[in-house]
Amino acid sequence: MMTMQAHSITAAVTAPIGLFDSGVGGLSVLRHIHALLPAEALLYFADAAYAPYGEKSEAVLTARALAIAAFLIERGAKALVVACNTATGAAIAALRAAYPSMPIVGVEPGLKPGAAASRNGTVAVMATEAALVAAKFQLLHGQLSQTSGARFILRGCPGLADQIELGQLDSAATADMLRHYILPLLAQGADTLVLGCTHYPLVKPAIERILAEAGAAHVILVDTGDAVARQLGRLLTAAQLLAPQAAAAGAVRGYTSGAAPQLATAFSALLGLQVVVDAVLLPTPSP
Ligand code: DGL
Repeated sequence: MMTMQAHSITAAVTAPIGLFDSGVGGLSVLRHIHALLPAEALLYFADAAYAPYGEKSEAVLTARALAIAAFLIERGAKALVVACNTATGAAIAALRAAYPSMPIVGVEPGLKPGAAASRNGTVAVMATEAALVAAKFQLLHGQLSQTSGARFILRGCPGLADQIELGQLDSAATADMLRHYILPLLAQGADTLVLGCTHYPLVKPAIERILAEAGAAHVILVDTGDAVARQLGRLLTAAQLLAPQAAAAGAVRGYTSGAAPQLATAFSALLGLQVVVDAVLLPTPSP
């Protein structure tokens, strides 16, 4: 009896964590989780067939999140990370309602760390348009505008996640787009840029070059990937689901509703990980 109990506990803690995003953006979160919690096995789902999420309605995003969560849980996920600001804003409440006992971590634009980091109190938030109109984000924005003393400038960046999805991290077109979005924010006095889409940390070097060329190398970039990994660690610990620290490195596996080689290449180019990726047909079930 004792042995069986011990075995079932071990099986649960070694179960994987499921993460998803519209594409490669969530890899900017996965890299922090893999670094902080290396013993955890990870299942990553890129919903490339439905990207970009930033142009989808809340209803579509919720249906996709529920379908992907069911897929990851079927493959044994013990916890979920919504590695996408847009999907978190639209669908995290529906996910928590569907799986009330599962640890679920979302990603939200880092308004609070942005306000704390800013020296002049002007914080620009770069995100998808859908993320900025989500009721959950609006509530956070309203509260922190009252309490933090910071002035937030909200800037939707259509097209930027698509460039990153195409692997155009260093291209002239991406640099032009970044200049188009960032220079007016600097002109309005922002000394802090919140990267409110998980794709954007993947072009951090290009952003830093643009800031340097604009004489604004002092501007602070806020990325919440590390905070998300720490929150996940706390939730797994509280639920007694943390993989044993002495265990071997957890396996990472990829799934995509788009083309498998594209995600495998992104894993290797962005994170230096060789990952087996399966292409999955995952239609949204009709209501
Ligand atoms: N990476 C996603 C986010 O954090 C969205 C990108 C997209 O528009 O698909 O919001």
